[in-house]
Amino acid sequence: MTILVTGGAGFIGANYIMDWLRLTDECVVNVDKLTYAGNLESLESVFDDPRHIFVNGDILDAELMDSILQEHTPRAIINFAAESHVDRSIHAAGDFIQTNIVGTYTLLESALKFWNSSSVKEKESFRFLHVSTDEVYGSLGRNDAPFSETNQYKPNSPYSASKASSDHLVRAFYQTHGLPVLTTNCSNNYGPYQFPEKLIPLIIHNAISGEQLPIYGDGKQIRDWLYVLDHCSAIRTVLSKGALGEMYNIGGKNEMENISVVNVLCDILDALQPKTDGTSYRDQITFVEDRLGHDRRYAIDSTKIEKELGWNPSETFESGIQLTVQWYLENQTWVEHTTSGSYRNWIKKNYSTGATT
Ligand code: NAD
Ligand code: TYD
Repeated sequence: MTILVTGGAGFIGANYIMDWLRLTDECVVNVDKLTYAGNLESLESVFDDPRHIFVNGDILDAELMDSILQEHTPRAIINFAAESHVDRSIHAAGDFIQTNIVGTYTLLESALKFWNSSSVKEKESFRFLHVSTDEVYGSLGRNDAPFSETNQYKPNSPYSASKASSDHLVRAFYQTHGLPVLTTNCSNNYGPYQFPEKLIPLIIHNAISGEQLPIYGDGKQIRDWLYVLDHCSAIRTVLSKGALGEMYNIGGKNEMENISVVNVLCDILDALQPKTDGTSYRDQITFVEDRLGHDRRYAIDSTKIEKELGWNPSETFESGIQLTVQWYLENQTWVEHTTSGSYRNWIKKNYSTGATT
């Protein structure tokens, strides 16, 4: 048995693949375009594992996706591939439209063609799981109820609008063609192997590099934080038990203001790697200009996945953030290669014969 993962060299996809191979014997075909966010160094521990088949490819390439599906006949597709950083979508949205919307559409067409040509038994068990975000629901006021699956989509950034659009296409392929889809809408993830442009890894990196810790606006924006391996377990749960055509919100029950997150990070770093001059990392906090259209609050009501599928997160924010800071401190080579850009040469340095197809 095989699953097909797209975007598996990114933050969540890489964690998902490594976790999957720890827990099952099932093969994973990993199709990743290796944009700036795709880092094969993250997959070093499984790169020689015969159950991990890496393909350097683009989900926009219909011919390639058709041939991969025919060759590997996966029982499921898990679509992580996306442009994922809100700030980049504000400066240039083109790649977000291409990958998140047109790419998801292209993948859906290939999946449909493949599914239609499958046997009755294979058709029954096949799943297309689309990994999406809570940002599609827009922004909440401080006293609003958390997002539930019935909330209206009101995306505010080009990133969230492109994800919302892809979610609609996934739904339409179920309603129109009966393709067995599942959609997950998750809150902010944190954990190992996250590209240091996102808040948590950026703050850890800047802190120990002696740089400013930039807080957008007043720092009182609220996000709900989920440890990445809890997101992975939620996706596995939805894949095995989710009802066809349904959406599942996934959250960590950890709503925090950005400034509080940064303060926690500084305090953990003060304890684990105190500065030689005796000052706190908090002294490096700098309030900077706010992000355009900055969503004020995200919060997730994950009652549906908890009650219907029996999923719950394992980590609290306290335990998960401690693990995360420790990981970044112990994996400074990964951070250094990522920030310097040398991770892009990892495949050439380590696989002179070319391991990608
Ligand atoms: P990421 O940016 O770290 O990784 C994205 C991966 O997709 C990269 O490896 C990149 O090379 C690959 N990719 C991009 N365009 C591609 C294309 N056209 N074809 C093939 N591969 C392509 O993102 P992430 O944080 O791992 O997020 C994964 C998914 O989860 C995304 O769909 C994102 O919207 C969703 N999500 C992320 C979060 C979060 O907090 N990071 C929260 C909820 C949902
Ligand atoms: P980010 O990690 O980019 O995730 P998202 O925008 O998808 O929620 O940002 C998390 C929050 O942190 C968001 O409110 C923006 C804020 N932020 C900062 O204050 N400073 C920073 O340098 C970054 C990257 C983000």
